Amino acid sequence: MIVLCSFLVEYQYEVTKSVREYLRSEICLVEINSIPSELIRPIVNCSICSDIQNIPTFDGHVPEDEAEKLAYSIVPFLVKNATRKWKASTEFSYEFFKQFFDNETVLDYFKTCQFLDYGSGFLSIKNVFNMPKERAETGKPAWYIGFSSCDDYVNKNLLQEYFISPEFLPKSLNTQQVWLFMGFGRSGGSAAPVHIDQVGVPSWQAQIIGKKTWQIYPTFECEMECKNFDINLEAGDIFVIDTNWWYHNTRVEKDYFSLTIGSEYQ
Ligand SMILES: [Fe+2]
Repeated sequence: MIVLCSFLVEYQYEVTKSVREYLRSEICLVEINSIPSELIRPIVNCSICSDIQNIPTFDGHVPEDEAEKLAYSIVPFLVKNATRKWKASTEFSYEFFKQFFDNETVLDYFKTCQFLDYGSGFLSIKNVFNMPKERAETGKPAWYIGFSSCDDYVNKNLLQEYFISPEFLPKSLNTQQVWLFMGFGRSGGSAAPVHIDQVGVPSWQAQIIGKKTWQIYPTFECEMECKNFDINLEAGDIFVIDTNWWYHNTRVEKDYFSLTIGSEYQ
């Protein structure tokens, strides 16, 4: 059952939403990410991306008709200066989350949520916020991690006051899976490696501290017809993308700190 839950959660097109939500609450023994997604994903009709010549970019506001058109399309878009009203912009930091997790009850809420250490050598969130002060502040040696907040209580009562659903997106934003990524770029600038997600819905990600570059690629059968893009995010920007469709990796400049928050929406 444990292995099966992992498989079905990842390849969710085969199960109904309610089954998927139930399975997401189960602890999975084996991470299915090790099985190449390429082997089982459906072949794409490349006409859906052949017209994308650039990434639509807006300053602060997205006209409603544009937002409706883009929010559920495969066209990624960037909104500059979009987090002006967010408390996260001034309060989130490594130190903020160190204090946030200095509490066994809060750590307990995250026990079943996902944690990604990207080879930084941490076994858990607790390890991240107990690392030596010098490594935390200088990124020497480099570290970069991601974790989800899958707990409804945490999202609604502990995190929601720091950010709001991006105003240009549908109001029914799903806050079940809030994601945070933070850390320093390694030598060569790598952060998250190339992958494709299997979450079934699009996502937004807001750059809170520092800069990050998203590099996105069409699926291999569309390489000749569709373009790759590099999207540079600065603090205050929100990037919206269907990460189930675009292969993607992120880059943070070596020795520079980046912190982002994001969520899936539907
Ligand atoms: Fe991803």
